[in-house]
Amino acid sequence: MPDPQHLLAARVQAALAAAFGPSYADADPVIRPSSFADLQANVALPLAKKLDRKPRDVAEEIVANLDTAGVVSDVQVSGPGFINLTLSDGWIAAEAQQILHDDRLGVPPADKPQKVVVEYSSPNVAKEMHVGHLRTTIVGDAIARILAFLGHDVVRDNHVGDWGTPFGMLIEHLLDLGEDAAARGDSSVSDLTAFYQAARQKFDGDEAFADRSRSRVVALQAGDPETLRLWNVLVDVSKRYFNAVYGQLGVTLTDDDIKGESFYNDLLAQTVRELEDKGIAVISDGALCAFPAGFTGREGEPLPVIIRKSDGGYNYSTTDLATIRYRVDTEHVDRMIYVVGTTQALHFQMVFAVAREAGWLSGDVQAEHAQIGSVLGTDGKLLRTRAGRTVKLSELLDEAVERAGAAFDDVQHDASFDAADRVAIVRDVGMGAVKYADLSVARDSEYTFDFDRMISFHGKTGPYLQYATARIRSIFRKGGVAPQDAAGPIVLGHPAERALALELLRFGTVVQQAGDTAEPHRLANYVFAVADAYTTFHENCPVLKAPDEETKASRLALCAATLRTLVTGLDLLGVPTPERM
Ligand code: ARG
Repeated sequence: MPDPQHLLAARVQAALAAAFGPSYADADPVIRPSSFADLQANVALPLAKKLDRKPRDVAEEIVANLDTAGVVSDVQVSGPGFINLTLSDGWIAAEAQQILHDDRLGVPPADKPQKVVVEYSSPNVAKEMHVGHLRTTIVGDAIARILAFLGHDVVRDNHVGDWGTPFGMLIEHLLDLGEDAAARGDSSVSDLTAFYQAARQKFDGDEAFADRSRSRVVALQAGDPETLRLWNVLVDVSKRYFNAVYGQLGVTLTDDDIKGESFYNDLLAQTVRELEDKGIAVISDGALCAFPAGFTGREGEPLPVIIRKSDGGYNYSTTDLATIRYRVDTEHVDRMIYVVGTTQALHFQMVFAVAREAGWLSGDVQAEHAQIGSVLGTDGKLLRTRAGRTVKLSELLDEAVERAGAAFDDVQHDASFDAADRVAIVRDVGMGAVKYADLSVARDSEYTFDFDRMISFHGKTGPYLQYATARIRSIFRKGGVAPQDAAGPIVLGHPAERALALELLRFGTVVQQAGDTAEPHRLANYVFAVADAYTTFHENCPVLKAPDEETKASRLALCAATLRTLVTGLDLLGVPTPERM
């Protein structure tokens, strides 16, 4: 099922080869959307320069050689030499008909399936998840879903921060409170921010406690069984909390996907030794450092990646290097995608550079940092609570659902809902609003968290898209037809029908691009374009009251293909679609 843009590109290339010789068979035909036709080919302009001829003449010659059969209904040369191309209604209808009967809605499975690690969420044990983790969780989950749909072998990987020096003081604080406090779910332990801060305060103010904490770190790193058991108690409290948030959000991460920093602990010493043996890591100011080529500071001095601190301890970078080595050597991955904040961009560039110098990352393994921009409040500053604290994720999500409830009660519904229906729908609307708002912005740009804008049934929002699917479903209910029974044939009359069908043909290309670039916003924008085309269709083309049976069958088929495209697209984004709203 060819994307119209790809098909026309191939046809124009064939015309170029026929007119100017075989060397032009791969030339970029410069196909762009057109405001006068469906698409335009702009290749005549650069080509004319090269051939030293008039662009219009070159355009005419391309057109004379263009095979339009079955696809193009009209070709015009306009302006300085643009070639305007109009697709034939028959071709669009036939392609849309194929989509209707295709389980994959025109999304081709990857020709080279890869093993892809998608590392996302990655919160820290014994700390609240913050709003930055919200974005990495939502975007990462969408990337994982998209790549899996494309047929890749996706390994979801939650690289939680569960290791390091703070665990000494955290374990000692747990002992002071009594382990049973954790078992009881006492808030002194389960309120992670308070727990962490209390431990920190004692560490800073109480010498004896600080000493105990330091020996505890040594015991932890030495693998002392009792210390490991206590550490596990803390990890479990946090896991319960992470899972509550994941459940609330409807993300696909489970405990099995957790491979925290601690997992790589046993590999750190070897990793470091190998870097030393290869002469990549050298002692500098007492610490063991790598200086990857091309990274310099303000004064031109080489920048270090610290691999072993002067106190002998390993750190965040050491773990990331061991992780790459493990993923390549043991997991045999083809691609690793790190869904992490933009603030860590330099860290990843440097770690990847060291891994390349060490030969752990070679040309056929892709490592990429899928950067996530910061989340701002409506005041344009980093999102904070009114009291100036970082916002707790669980509270933020609860508020989203509460506000979704108020918005939901404000709109007219054509069905009645009992209390349980309402709770389920409102939860989906709240989560859909938060997730779609996040996903519709390019992941590496900053994004303003604004409840009022995201929880609206109008505009480019999750609730608007969910509502569009519910509206289509209600047509089928009223018509007494199941969407899967709508068989067409699709015939195109009204321009709104044509525009909708044409939009549906792009799904395959969009999903592919979103997967290749790890940019779910491409899909988020596309789903909105489909819903928009549907809205125009809905306003202009009566379905159940269509003028004749043939038109009704065609419109029902368009509705069915639209519904599946929207539901599938939203599902790949992790946005739920309630059956009724
Ligand atoms: N735990 C880290 C944080 O909360 C994110 C981990 C990112 N992943 C990595 N491989 N370094 O900032």
